Amino acid sequence: MNSKEKKIEVTFFPYGKKVTFSHFLNLKKAILKAGIPFSFPCGGKGICGKCKVKVRGNVTPLTVIEKEKLSVREIEENYRLACQTGLKGDTQVEILLSDSVFSPQILTTWKKEEFEVKSPVKKIYLSIKPPDIKDQISDVSRIRRELKKRGFDDLKIGIEVVKKIPSVLRENEFKVTVVIDDNEIICIEGKDTRKESFGIAFDIGTTTIVGALLDLTKGKVIATKGIVNPQSVYGYDVISRISYIQQKGKKGISELQKAVILGVNRLIDNLLKEANIDKSKVYKIVFVGNTIMQHILVGIDPVNIGLYPYVPVIQEFIKLKSFNLKLRVNPFADVFVFPNIAGFIGGDTVGVILSTGIHRAKGKNILAVDLGTNGEIVLSSKGKIWATSTAAGPAFEGVRISQGMMAQKGAIERVKIEDGRIFVKVVGDVEPEGICGSGLIDAVAELHKEGVIDDSGKITPRDMQKDIWKERVLEEEERKFVLVEKNGYPIFITQKDVRELQLAKAAVSTGIKILLKKTGIKPGDVQQVFIAGGFGSYLNLQNACNIGLFPLFPRAEVKNIGNAALHGAIKALLSQRYIEEVKKIPYLVSSVELATHPEFQNVLAESIRF
Ligand code: FES
Repeated sequence: MNSKEKKIEVTFFPYGKKVTFSHFLNLKKAILKAGIPFSFPCGGKGICGKCKVKVRGNVTPLTVIEKEKLSVREIEENYRLACQTGLKGDTQVEILLSDSVFSPQILTTWKKEEFEVKSPVKKIYLSIKPPDIKDQISDVSRIRRELKKRGFDDLKIGIEVVKKIPSVLRENEFKVTVVIDDNEIICIEGKDTRKESFGIAFDIGTTTIVGALLDLTKGKVIATKGIVNPQSVYGYDVISRISYIQQKGKKGISELQKAVILGVNRLIDNLLKEANIDKSKVYKIVFVGNTIMQHILVGIDPVNIGLYPYVPVIQEFIKLKSFNLKLRVNPFADVFVFPNIAGFIGGDTVGVILSTGIHRAKGKNILAVDLGTNGEIVLSSKGKIWATSTAAGPAFEGVRISQGMMAQKGAIERVKIEDGRIFVKVVGDVEPEGICGSGLIDAVAELHKEGVIDDSGKITPRDMQKDIWKERVLEEEERKFVLVEKNGYPIFITQKDVRELQLAKAAVSTGIKILLKKTGIKPGDVQQVFIAGGFGSYLNLQNACNIGLFPLFPRAEVKNIGNAALHGAIKALLSQRYIEEVKKIPYLVSSVELATHPEFQNVLAESIRF
């Protein structure tokens, strides 16, 4: 067998995914071919030094660039730059997930005063009289007796909590804090810990997971973090994940469940570390996500959602304890998973409805659009609510874009062209490293206006461009337009990036148009439009309309509301009243199937063009 025929097996950790390649190749190519979520900010030119991985196996020696970019310690610990490393034989590659946790730019237009902060988690401090020969009641009864004096009676208590009581009482001279949630004693802690009460809200997206750590007593967000959903190695969309489970059966569900929990736990560790909070003080977790993500999170088989007639296993909310999911918080913390509306309209849409209050607005025609890998669209009119979902792909989240990144420090979030000059705004006002969804929309809209991109979405050949743009058009393997240069390397938009955005915007705009047709509401009748998504605060609505992402709503007030699904989860974390509303919302909404509409294919085809 000559060297060209030798097969190379590459195992990617922590996913455990094994991929066999039939020839020698560069690790960057192997990562891309394996579908591992990973970013190469300088496009693999060896300039940024950001594509670090840990490698064990048969690989090419360190390059001069790597010796420059990696520290001595990193070299000793087998760190390599993926774009500089060649694979010669079987190799194990560790993708450094903790390094990829980012601080997302989350739009916080909501004000604490606008909603109720009344956490269902209660902490009661007790200074208890110790037992003596005249007062021999049990430890548990002793605690109950004190709680009754404070108005708490008939509380449940689990055996694992009971086991800890004797030592906690005696080590703390019978001065303890009892943590109560939903009529259950979930924990007993030594001393007075009333000020320390925390919860975490998660939005489990197909592409990203975002978590917000909250102080439950003050109703304040302390930290937010995001990560690429580790399930992405099993496919970028929900359908490919369902297919994986179809092939692998129970093992597939367990693999995907472990992957999402791995991501959630990484976020928990990072959030708590940043805020210097002990995991035992996190008593409540709320999850929102699409129906498939929520099914997999709790280990329920989602396969039937992908098969006609697209039925979920469960619609109602799920409640469990954090130890059931092996979350790294207080093991008895309550975990609340939002209810689903339908197979492709999940808890994240319920979160958007709760966040915007659409379910309580009776008189107005209101549209809410949540832009993610699946675009969810909700329309409310005269007390009725309809919702639908459309497969947009991950372009709005900066994924599968050649130099794409999430809306985080270093991402180009705005692009403007004036008098032949290109201006960019970068999150955190630092040097640009890549481009996020809002930047991509701006860039494509502005380049279309300039004629660099034609109505069909094609980047015009260099020799047909206006003189001022000629030198920015690179006729390489794929045509590219250079937006800016950072330290000598270009940040560009490729032809494929434009195509990805076209598919995403066509899917969303088709969803909106068909939903309006089905309900008989005209764009001119819509009075309020909410645009939600993980863009941060800077989605340029005019540019979004210019590329045809939204039809024109001539009489509507249009508002960017950021990650509304997460905001819905935050509200539910802070008040039982919102939890009760959440439970009812799915039954107020009619789901609309887009693909069965006779005009669907035509509208979709028309919506691709600019
Ligand atoms: S150094 Fe490898 S992508 Fe920049």
